[in-house]
Amino acid sequence: MSSPAGARAHWSSRWAFILVTAGSAIGLGNIWKFPYMTGTNGGSAFVLVYLACIVGIGVPLLMAETMLGRRGQGNPVDAMRSVAAEAGAARLWQVVGVIGIVGAALILSFYSVVAGWILDYTVLAVQGFGGMDKEDLAATFAALLADPWRLIGWHTAFMLLNLVVVIGGVTGGIERANKILMPALFAIVLLLLGYGIAAADMPAAVRFMFHFEPQAISAPVILAAMGHAFFTLSLGMGAIMTYGSYLERGTSIARTCLYITVADTGIALLAGLSIFAIVFAQGLEPAAGPGLILQTLPLAFAHMPLGNVVGVLFFVLVAFAAWTSGISLIEPATAFLVERFGIGRKPAVAVVCFVAWSIGIAVALSFNLWSEIKLFGLNIFDLLDTLTTKMLMPLAGLLIALFAGWVMKRAHAAEEIGLHGGAFRLWYGTVRYVSPVAIALIFLNVIGVIG
Ligand code: TRP
Repeated sequence: MSSPAGARAHWSSRWAFILVTAGSAIGLGNIWKFPYMTGTNGGSAFVLVYLACIVGIGVPLLMAETMLGRRGQGNPVDAMRSVAAEAGAARLWQVVGVIGIVGAALILSFYSVVAGWILDYTVLAVQGFGGMDKEDLAATFAALLADPWRLIGWHTAFMLLNLVVVIGGVTGGIERANKILMPALFAIVLLLLGYGIAAADMPAAVRFMFHFEPQAISAPVILAAMGHAFFTLSLGMGAIMTYGSYLERGTSIARTCLYITVADTGIALLAGLSIFAIVFAQGLEPAAGPGLILQTLPLAFAHMPLGNVVGVLFFVLVAFAAWTSGISLIEPATAFLVERFGIGRKPAVAVVCFVAWSIGIAVALSFNLWSEIKLFGLNIFDLLDTLTTKMLMPLAGLLIALFAGWVMKRAHAAEEIGLHGGAFRLWYGTVRYVSPVAIALIFLNVIGVIG
Protein backbone atom coordinates (compact mmCIF):
# COMPACT_ATOMS: atom_id res chain seq x y z
CA MET A 1 0.00 0.00 0.00
CA SER A 2 1.52 3.28 -1.05
CA SER A 3 -0.06 5.25 1.75
CA PRO A 4 -1.87 4.24 4.90
CA ALA A 5 -5.64 4.07 4.68
CA GLY A 6 -7.21 7.30 5.83
CA ALA A 7 -4.29 9.45 4.69
CA ARG A 8 -6.16 10.47 1.53
CA ALA A 9 -9.41 12.29 1.09
CA HIS A 10 -12.48 10.09 1.11
CA TRP A 11 -16.09 10.47 0.05
CA SER A 12 -18.37 11.40 2.88
CA SER A 13 -20.63 8.38 2.36
CA ARG A 14 -21.44 5.51 0.07
CA TRP A 15 -24.13 7.63 -1.52
CA ALA A 16 -21.60 10.30 -2.26
CA PHE A 17 -19.53 7.78 -4.18
CA ILE A 18 -22.57 6.56 -6.11
CA LEU A 19 -23.50 10.13 -6.91
CA VAL A 20 -20.12 11.28 -8.15
CA THR A 21 -19.45 8.11 -10.09
CA ALA A 22 -22.88 8.30 -11.66
CA GLY A 23 -22.07 11.96 -12.29
CA SER A 24 -18.96 10.88 -14.15
CA ALA A 25 -20.76 8.18 -16.10
CA ILE A 26 -23.84 10.20 -16.97
CA GLY A 27 -22.94 12.98 -19.33
CA LEU A 28 -22.76 13.85 -22.99
CA GLY A 29 -22.24 10.15 -23.64
CA ASN A 30 -25.82 9.46 -22.65
CA ILE A 31 -27.67 12.46 -24.01
CA TRP A 32 -25.59 13.48 -27.01
CA LYS A 33 -23.50 10.50 -28.09
CA PHE A 34 -25.73 7.51 -27.49
CA PRO A 35 -28.63 8.81 -29.60
CA TYR A 36 -26.47 9.91 -32.49
CA MET A 37 -24.39 6.71 -32.48
CA THR A 38 -27.60 4.68 -32.41
CA GLY A 39 -28.78 6.70 -35.39
CA THR A 40 -25.61 6.33 -37.44
CA ASN A 41 -25.18 2.63 -36.61
CA GLY A 42 -28.56 1.35 -37.70
CA GLY A 43 -30.62 1.62 -34.54
CA SER A 44 -31.58 -1.63 -32.83
CA ALA A 45 -28.48 -3.57 -33.92
CA PHE A 46 -26.31 -1.02 -32.14
CA VAL A 47 -28.53 -0.91 -29.05
CA LEU A 48 -28.53 -4.70 -28.74
CA VAL A 49 -24.74 -5.01 -28.90
CA TYR A 50 -24.34 -2.00 -26.62
CA LEU A 51 -26.55 -3.61 -23.96
CA ALA A 52 -24.68 -6.90 -24.30
CA CYS A 53 -21.37 -5.06 -23.86
CA ILE A 54 -22.68 -3.23 -20.79
CA VAL A 55 -23.60 -6.55 -19.16
CA GLY A 56 -20.67 -8.71 -20.28
CA ILE A 57 -17.87 -6.13 -20.25
CA GLY A 58 -19.04 -2.88 -18.70
CA VAL A 59 -20.40 -3.94 -15.30
CA PRO A 60 -17.65 -6.44 -14.47
CA LEU A 61 -14.96 -3.95 -15.48
CA LEU A 62 -16.61 -1.11 -13.59
CA MET A 63 -16.34 -3.30 -10.49
CA ALA A 64 -12.78 -4.34 -11.31
CA GLU A 65 -11.58 -0.79 -11.89
CA THR A 66 -13.21 0.49 -8.69
CA MET A 67 -11.68 -2.41 -6.80
CA LEU A 68 -8.17 -1.77 -8.14
CA GLY A 69 -8.45 1.89 -7.20
CA ARG A 70 -9.54 1.18 -3.65
CA ARG A 71 -6.96 -1.55 -3.17
CA GLY A 72 -4.21 0.60 -4.67
CA GLN A 73 -5.15 3.77 -2.75
CA GLY A 74 -3.67 6.12 -5.26
CA ASN A 75 -3.85 7.85 -8.61
CA PRO A 76 -4.10 5.37 -11.52
CA VAL A 77 -0.34 5.01 -12.02
CA ASP A 78 0.55 4.54 -8.36
CA ALA A 79 -2.53 2.41 -7.69
CA MET A 80 -1.50 0.00 -10.45
CA ARG A 81 2.06 -0.02 -9.17
CA SER A 82 0.88 -0.83 -5.69
CA VAL A 83 -1.54 -3.62 -6.65
CA ALA A 84 1.08 -5.07 -9.01
CA ALA A 85 3.64 -5.08 -6.19
CA GLU A 86 1.17 -6.79 -3.89
CA ALA A 87 0.59 -9.48 -6.53
CA GLY A 88 4.33 -9.87 -7.16
CA ALA A 89 3.81 -8.73 -10.75
CA ALA A 90 5.86 -6.47 -13.01
CA ARG A 91 5.94 -2.72 -12.41
CA LEU A 92 5.09 -2.39 -16.08
CA TRP A 93 1.42 -2.68 -15.11
CA GLN A 94 1.68 1.02 -14.36
CA VAL A 95 1.17 1.62 -18.07
CA VAL A 96 -2.52 0.96 -17.47
CA GLY A 97 -2.55 4.14 -15.40
CA VAL A 98 -0.51 6.05 -17.96
CA ILE A 99 -2.86 5.06 -20.79
CA GLY A 100 -5.72 6.27 -18.61
CA ILE A 101 -4.23 9.64 -17.78
CA VAL A 102 -3.27 10.40 -21.37
CA GLY A 103 -6.58 9.09 -22.70
CA ALA A 104 -8.61 11.11 -20.22
CA ALA A 105 -6.86 14.33 -21.25
CA LEU A 106 -7.54 13.56 -24.92
CA ILE A 107 -11.20 12.84 -24.21
CA LEU A 108 -11.51 16.04 -22.22
CA SER A 109 -10.21 18.04 -25.17
CA PHE A 110 -13.09 17.13 -27.47
CA TYR A 111 -15.60 16.64 -24.68
CA SER A 112 -15.12 20.25 -23.72
CA VAL A 113 -15.77 21.45 -27.26
CA VAL A 114 -19.03 19.52 -27.46
CA ALA A 115 -20.03 20.73 -23.99
CA GLY A 116 -19.42 24.18 -25.45
CA TRP A 117 -22.14 23.49 -28.05
CA ILE A 118 -24.50 22.78 -25.18
CA LEU A 119 -23.59 26.07 -23.49
CA ASP A 120 -24.14 27.92 -26.75
CA TYR A 121 -27.55 26.27 -27.14
CA THR A 122 -28.43 27.23 -23.58
CA VAL A 123 -28.19 30.84 -24.67
CA LEU A 124 -30.13 30.11 -27.85
CA ALA A 125 -32.80 28.44 -25.73
CA VAL A 126 -33.13 31.58 -23.62
CA GLN A 127 -33.90 33.45 -26.82
CA GLY A 128 -36.33 30.65 -27.71
CA PHE A 129 -36.67 28.31 -30.70
CA GLY A 130 -40.24 29.38 -31.46
CA GLY A 131 -41.03 29.49 -35.17
CA MET A 132 -37.97 27.49 -36.20
CA ASP A 133 -38.36 24.49 -38.49
CA LYS A 134 -35.89 21.73 -39.23
CA GLU A 135 -34.13 23.69 -41.97
CA ASP A 136 -33.62 26.62 -39.62
CA LEU A 137 -32.20 24.32 -36.97
CA ALA A 138 -29.83 22.65 -39.44
CA ALA A 139 -28.62 26.11 -40.45
CA THR A 140 -28.26 27.16 -36.79
CA PHE A 141 -26.04 24.20 -36.03
CA ALA A 142 -23.99 24.67 -39.21
CA ALA A 143 -23.45 28.32 -38.28
CA LEU A 144 -22.11 27.34 -34.87
CA LEU A 145 -19.67 24.83 -36.35
CA ALA A 146 -18.49 27.37 -38.90
CA ASP A 147 -17.58 29.92 -36.24
CA PRO A 148 -14.19 29.17 -34.63
CA TRP A 149 -14.47 31.99 -32.09
CA ARG A 150 -17.83 30.89 -30.81
CA LEU A 151 -16.62 27.30 -30.47
CA ILE A 152 -13.38 28.29 -28.78
CA GLY A 153 -15.10 30.77 -26.48
CA TRP A 154 -17.56 28.20 -25.12
CA HIS A 155 -14.87 25.52 -24.99
CA THR A 156 -12.80 27.88 -22.85
CA ALA A 157 -15.76 28.66 -20.62
CA PHE A 158 -16.47 24.98 -20.03
CA MET A 159 -12.82 24.25 -19.24
CA LEU A 160 -12.76 27.06 -16.70
CA LEU A 161 -15.88 25.71 -14.98
CA ASN A 162 -14.15 22.36 -14.59
CA LEU A 163 -10.94 23.91 -13.40
CA VAL A 164 -12.70 25.76 -10.62
CA VAL A 165 -14.47 22.69 -9.26
CA VAL A 166 -11.49 20.37 -9.39
CA ILE A 167 -9.33 22.94 -7.63
CA GLY A 168 -11.99 22.90 -4.90
CA GLY A 169 -10.99 19.31 -4.21
CA VAL A 170 -12.58 15.95 -4.17
CA THR A 171 -15.18 16.17 -1.47
CA GLY A 172 -15.59 19.93 -1.39
CA GLY A 173 -16.05 20.59 -5.07
CA ILE A 174 -16.82 17.42 -6.92
CA GLU A 175 -19.21 15.91 -4.45
CA ARG A 176 -21.29 18.98 -3.83
CA ALA A 177 -21.83 19.72 -7.51
CA ASN A 178 -23.40 16.31 -8.09
CA LYS A 179 -25.95 16.14 -5.36
CA ILE A 180 -28.79 18.18 -6.82
CA LEU A 181 -28.02 18.10 -10.49
CA MET A 182 -28.23 14.41 -11.25
CA PRO A 183 -31.78 13.94 -9.92
CA ALA A 184 -32.87 17.10 -11.73
CA LEU A 185 -31.48 15.79 -15.01
CA PHE A 186 -33.38 12.56 -14.55
CA ALA A 187 -36.60 14.50 -14.00
CA ILE A 188 -36.24 16.53 -17.17
CA VAL A 189 -35.44 13.46 -19.25
CA LEU A 190 -38.67 11.91 -17.96
CA LEU A 191 -40.49 15.07 -18.98
CA LEU A 192 -39.11 14.81 -22.51
CA LEU A 193 -40.14 11.18 -22.60
CA GLY A 194 -43.64 12.27 -21.68
CA TYR A 195 -43.58 14.74 -24.55
CA GLY A 196 -42.36 12.01 -26.89
CA ILE A 197 -45.27 9.78 -25.87
CA ALA A 198 -47.91 12.50 -25.95
CA ALA A 199 -46.92 14.51 -28.99
CA ALA A 200 -44.40 12.59 -31.11
CA ASP A 201 -43.97 9.13 -32.63
CA MET A 202 -42.93 6.91 -29.73
CA PRO A 203 -43.92 3.60 -31.39
CA ALA A 204 -41.54 4.36 -34.26
CA ALA A 205 -38.79 5.20 -31.76
CA VAL A 206 -39.33 1.92 -29.90
CA ARG A 207 -39.26 -0.01 -33.16
CA PHE A 208 -36.08 1.75 -34.30
CA MET A 209 -34.24 1.06 -31.04
CA PHE A 210 -35.54 -2.36 -30.02
CA HIS A 211 -36.70 -4.18 -33.11
CA PHE A 212 -34.77 -7.48 -33.05
CA GLU A 213 -32.56 -7.41 -36.11
CA PRO A 214 -29.44 -9.51 -35.57
CA GLN A 215 -28.60 -9.59 -39.28
CA ALA A 216 -27.87 -5.86 -39.13
CA ILE A 217 -24.97 -6.43 -36.72
CA SER A 218 -21.61 -5.91 -38.41
CA ALA A 219 -18.02 -5.59 -37.22
CA PRO A 220 -18.02 -1.77 -37.26
CA VAL A 221 -21.32 -1.70 -35.36
CA ILE A 222 -19.89 -4.06 -32.73
CA LEU A 223 -16.72 -1.99 -32.27
CA ALA A 224 -18.73 1.22 -32.05
CA ALA A 225 -21.09 -0.31 -29.48
CA MET A 226 -18.30 -1.74 -27.35
CA GLY A 227 -16.39 1.53 -27.46
CA HIS A 228 -19.49 3.37 -26.41
CA ALA A 229 -20.09 0.98 -23.49
CA PHE A 230 -16.62 1.98 -22.24
CA PHE A 231 -17.21 5.65 -22.90
CA THR A 232 -20.55 5.87 -21.18
CA LEU A 233 -19.35 4.11 -18.01
CA SER A 234 -16.13 6.20 -17.96
CA LEU A 235 -14.09 2.98 -18.08
CA GLY A 236 -10.41 2.36 -18.59
CA MET A 237 -9.22 5.95 -18.29
CA GLY A 238 -8.39 6.01 -14.62
CA ALA A 239 -11.42 8.08 -13.68
CA ILE A 240 -13.21 5.21 -12.00
CA MET A 241 -9.95 3.97 -10.48
CA THR A 242 -9.29 7.38 -8.96
CA TYR A 243 -12.83 7.71 -7.62
CA GLY A 244 -12.58 4.16 -6.28
CA SER A 245 -9.43 5.12 -4.43
CA TYR A 246 -11.45 7.67 -2.46
CA LEU A 247 -14.02 5.02 -1.51
CA GLU A 248 -14.12 3.85 2.09
CA ARG A 249 -13.26 0.26 2.91
CA GLY A 250 -16.34 -1.76 3.72
CA THR A 251 -18.62 -0.35 1.04
CA SER A 252 -20.01 -3.01 -1.31
CA ILE A 253 -18.42 -2.33 -4.66
CA ALA A 254 -20.67 -4.73 -6.54
CA ARG A 255 -23.91 -3.15 -5.45
CA THR A 256 -22.82 0.45 -5.97
CA CYS A 257 -21.57 -0.40 -9.46
CA LEU A 258 -24.90 -1.98 -10.32
CA TYR A 259 -26.81 1.14 -9.26
CA ILE A 260 -24.50 3.31 -11.31
CA THR A 261 -24.88 1.15 -14.41
CA VAL A 262 -28.66 1.03 -14.18
CA ALA A 263 -28.86 4.81 -13.81
CA ASP A 264 -26.45 5.38 -16.70
CA THR A 265 -28.08 2.93 -19.08
CA GLY A 266 -31.56 4.10 -18.10
CA ILE A 267 -30.84 7.74 -18.88
CA ALA A 268 -29.30 6.84 -22.25
CA LEU A 269 -32.26 4.70 -23.31
CA LEU A 270 -34.81 7.29 -22.18
CA ALA A 271 -32.96 10.10 -23.93
CA GLY A 272 -32.69 7.97 -27.06
CA LEU A 273 -36.41 7.18 -27.09
CA SER A 274 -37.38 10.82 -26.58
CA ILE A 275 -35.12 12.00 -29.37
CA PHE A 276 -36.10 9.36 -31.91
CA ALA A 277 -39.80 9.92 -31.20
CA ILE A 278 -39.23 13.50 -32.37
CA VAL A 279 -36.98 12.44 -35.25
CA PHE A 280 -39.67 10.18 -36.71
CA ALA A 281 -42.59 12.47 -36.00
CA GLN A 282 -40.81 15.31 -37.83
CA GLY A 283 -39.39 13.28 -40.69
CA LEU A 284 -35.81 13.99 -39.65
CA GLU A 285 -32.77 11.89 -40.49
CA PRO A 286 -31.81 9.45 -37.66
CA ALA A 287 -28.27 9.24 -39.06
CA ALA A 288 -27.74 13.03 -38.88
CA GLY A 289 -24.59 12.53 -36.77
CA PRO A 290 -23.16 14.58 -33.89
CA GLY A 291 -25.68 17.41 -34.38
CA LEU A 292 -28.67 15.09 -33.87
CA ILE A 293 -29.94 16.31 -30.48
CA LEU A 294 -29.35 19.94 -31.40
CA GLN A 295 -31.46 19.54 -34.52
CA THR A 296 -34.29 17.57 -32.94
CA LEU A 297 -34.98 18.65 -29.37
CA PRO A 298 -35.33 22.38 -30.16
CA LEU A 299 -38.25 21.40 -32.42
CA ALA A 300 -39.95 19.92 -29.37
CA PHE A 301 -39.15 23.01 -27.31
CA ALA A 302 -40.60 25.17 -30.07
CA HIS A 303 -43.92 23.34 -29.88
CA MET A 304 -44.53 22.14 -26.34
CA PRO A 305 -46.29 24.25 -23.72
CA LEU A 306 -43.71 26.17 -21.67
CA GLY A 307 -41.18 24.99 -24.24
CA ASN A 308 -38.98 27.98 -23.58
CA VAL A 309 -38.56 27.15 -19.93
CA VAL A 310 -38.14 23.44 -20.56
CA GLY A 311 -35.56 24.12 -23.26
CA VAL A 312 -33.42 26.31 -21.04
CA LEU A 313 -33.68 23.85 -18.16
CA PHE A 314 -32.75 20.97 -20.41
CA PHE A 315 -29.60 22.55 -21.79
CA VAL A 316 -28.55 23.80 -18.37
CA LEU A 317 -28.89 20.32 -16.92
CA VAL A 318 -27.06 18.66 -19.79
CA ALA A 319 -24.30 21.21 -19.32
CA PHE A 320 -24.17 20.23 -15.66
CA ALA A 321 -24.08 16.53 -16.54
CA ALA A 322 -21.16 17.27 -18.86
CA TRP A 323 -19.52 19.27 -16.11
CA THR A 324 -19.64 16.42 -13.58
CA SER A 325 -18.11 14.17 -16.25
CA GLY A 326 -15.45 16.68 -17.24
CA ILE A 327 -14.37 16.87 -13.61
CA SER A 328 -13.73 13.14 -13.57
CA LEU A 329 -11.56 13.44 -16.66
CA ILE A 330 -9.30 15.96 -14.90
CA GLU A 331 -9.01 14.27 -11.52
CA PRO A 332 -6.83 11.25 -12.50
CA ALA A 333 -3.99 13.32 -13.97
CA THR A 334 -4.33 15.85 -11.16
CA ALA A 335 -4.03 13.16 -8.50
CA PHE A 336 -1.02 11.77 -10.37
CA LEU A 337 0.79 15.12 -10.52
CA VAL A 338 0.05 15.91 -6.90
CA GLU A 339 0.95 12.51 -5.47
CA ARG A 340 3.91 11.67 -7.69
CA PHE A 341 5.59 15.07 -7.98
CA GLY A 342 4.33 16.76 -4.86
CA ILE A 343 3.15 19.85 -6.69
CA GLY A 344 0.14 21.76 -5.38
CA ARG A 345 -3.38 20.93 -6.43
CA LYS A 346 -3.92 24.29 -8.13
CA PRO A 347 -0.94 24.21 -10.50
CA ALA A 348 -1.61 20.53 -11.20
CA VAL A 349 -5.18 21.26 -12.30
CA ALA A 350 -3.97 24.23 -14.32
CA VAL A 351 -1.47 22.08 -16.22
CA VAL A 352 -4.02 19.36 -17.00
CA CYS A 353 -6.66 21.84 -18.14
CA PHE A 354 -4.19 23.80 -20.22
CA VAL A 355 -3.06 20.70 -22.11
CA ALA A 356 -6.63 19.56 -22.79
CA TRP A 357 -7.70 23.11 -23.68
CA SER A 358 -4.88 23.47 -26.22
CA ILE A 359 -5.78 20.23 -27.97
CA GLY A 360 -9.41 21.33 -27.82
CA ILE A 361 -8.54 24.39 -29.92
CA ALA A 362 -7.46 22.04 -32.70
CA VAL A 363 -10.73 20.14 -32.26
CA ALA A 364 -12.75 23.35 -32.56
CA LEU A 365 -10.86 24.29 -35.71
CA SER A 366 -11.41 20.85 -37.21
CA PHE A 367 -15.04 21.86 -37.82
CA ASN A 368 -14.11 24.87 -39.91
CA LEU A 369 -10.65 26.25 -40.78
CA TRP A 370 -8.92 22.89 -40.41
CA SER A 371 -11.69 20.65 -41.70
CA GLU A 372 -9.45 19.49 -44.53
CA ILE A 373 -6.75 18.19 -42.20
CA LYS A 374 -7.31 14.45 -42.12
CA LEU A 375 -5.49 11.35 -40.99
CA PHE A 376 -6.81 7.95 -42.06
CA GLY A 377 -9.76 9.87 -43.52
CA LEU A 378 -10.73 11.31 -40.14
CA ASN A 379 -10.65 14.94 -39.08
CA ILE A 380 -9.10 15.89 -35.73
CA PHE A 381 -12.38 15.53 -33.82
CA ASP A 382 -13.17 12.08 -35.24
CA LEU A 383 -9.56 11.01 -34.87
CA LEU A 384 -9.46 11.79 -31.13
CA ASP A 385 -12.83 10.14 -30.59
CA THR A 386 -11.78 7.01 -32.48
CA LEU A 387 -8.36 6.81 -30.83
CA THR A 388 -9.79 7.04 -27.32
CA THR A 389 -13.17 5.32 -27.57
CA LYS A 390 -12.33 2.54 -29.98
CA MET A 391 -8.69 1.93 -29.06
CA LEU A 392 -7.34 3.26 -25.76
CA MET A 393 -10.42 2.48 -23.68
CA PRO A 394 -10.85 -1.13 -24.84
CA LEU A 395 -7.08 -1.67 -24.55
CA ALA A 396 -6.97 -0.38 -20.97
CA GLY A 397 -10.13 -2.37 -20.22
CA LEU A 398 -8.54 -5.54 -21.54
CA LEU A 399 -5.48 -5.00 -19.34
CA ILE A 400 -7.65 -4.29 -16.28
CA ALA A 401 -9.65 -7.48 -16.87
CA LEU A 402 -6.47 -9.51 -17.29
CA PHE A 403 -4.94 -8.01 -14.17
CA ALA A 404 -8.01 -8.48 -11.98
CA GLY A 405 -8.73 -11.96 -13.33
CA TRP A 406 -5.30 -13.49 -13.77
CA VAL A 407 -2.59 -11.49 -12.02
CA MET A 408 -4.13 -10.37 -8.76
CA LYS A 409 -4.49 -13.04 -6.12
CA ARG A 410 -7.98 -14.50 -6.12
CA ALA A 411 -8.33 -14.10 -2.35
CA HIS A 412 -7.40 -10.42 -2.57
CA ALA A 413 -9.90 -9.80 -5.34
CA ALA A 414 -12.62 -11.57 -3.35
CA GLU A 415 -11.83 -9.64 -0.21
CA GLU A 416 -11.73 -6.26 -1.91
CA ILE A 417 -14.78 -6.65 -4.14
CA GLY A 418 -16.85 -7.96 -1.22
CA LEU A 419 -18.71 -10.72 -3.07
CA HIS A 420 -19.11 -14.30 -1.91
CA GLY A 421 -20.10 -17.70 -3.25
CA GLY A 422 -21.90 -17.79 -6.58
CA ALA A 423 -21.95 -14.02 -7.00
CA PHE A 424 -18.18 -13.86 -6.68
CA ARG A 425 -17.68 -16.75 -9.09
CA LEU A 426 -19.97 -15.08 -11.62
CA TRP A 427 -18.02 -11.82 -11.51
CA TYR A 428 -14.65 -13.56 -11.44
CA GLY A 429 -15.48 -15.87 -14.32
CA THR A 430 -16.72 -12.94 -16.39
CA VAL A 431 -13.61 -10.86 -15.72
CA ARG A 432 -11.31 -13.82 -16.38
CA TYR A 433 -12.91 -15.18 -19.53
CA VAL A 434 -15.89 -13.35 -20.97
CA SER A 435 -14.67 -9.75 -20.92
CA PRO A 436 -11.10 -10.28 -22.15
CA VAL A 437 -12.11 -12.77 -24.82
CA ALA A 438 -14.90 -10.48 -26.02
CA ILE A 439 -12.63 -7.43 -26.18
CA ALA A 440 -9.86 -9.37 -27.89
CA LEU A 441 -12.21 -10.91 -30.46
CA ILE A 442 -13.71 -7.56 -31.32
CA PHE A 443 -10.24 -6.08 -31.78
CA LEU A 444 -8.99 -8.93 -33.94
CA ASN A 445 -12.14 -8.88 -35.99
CA VAL A 446 -11.78 -5.22 -36.71
CA ILE A 447 -8.11 -5.51 -37.54
CA GLY A 448 -9.27 -8.15 -39.98
CA VAL A 449 -7.31 -11.09 -38.59
CA ILE A 450 -10.51 -13.07 -38.41
CA GLY A 451 -13.93 -12.46 -39.92
N1 TRP B 1 -18.97 8.83 -19.21
C1 TRP B 1 -19.03 10.20 -19.60
C2 TRP B 1 -20.18 10.40 -20.55
O1 TRP B 1 -20.84 9.48 -20.91
C3 TRP B 1 -17.74 10.68 -20.21
C4 TRP B 1 -16.58 10.42 -19.34
C5 TRP B 1 -16.32 10.96 -18.16
C6 TRP B 1 -15.55 9.51 -19.57
N2 TRP B 1 -15.18 10.43 -17.62
C7 TRP B 1 -14.71 9.53 -18.46
C8 TRP B 1 -15.31 8.67 -20.61
C9 TRP B 1 -13.62 8.71 -18.37
C10 TRP B 1 -14.19 7.84 -20.51
C11 TRP B 1 -13.38 7.86 -19.41
O2 TRP B 1 -20.44 11.50 -20.94
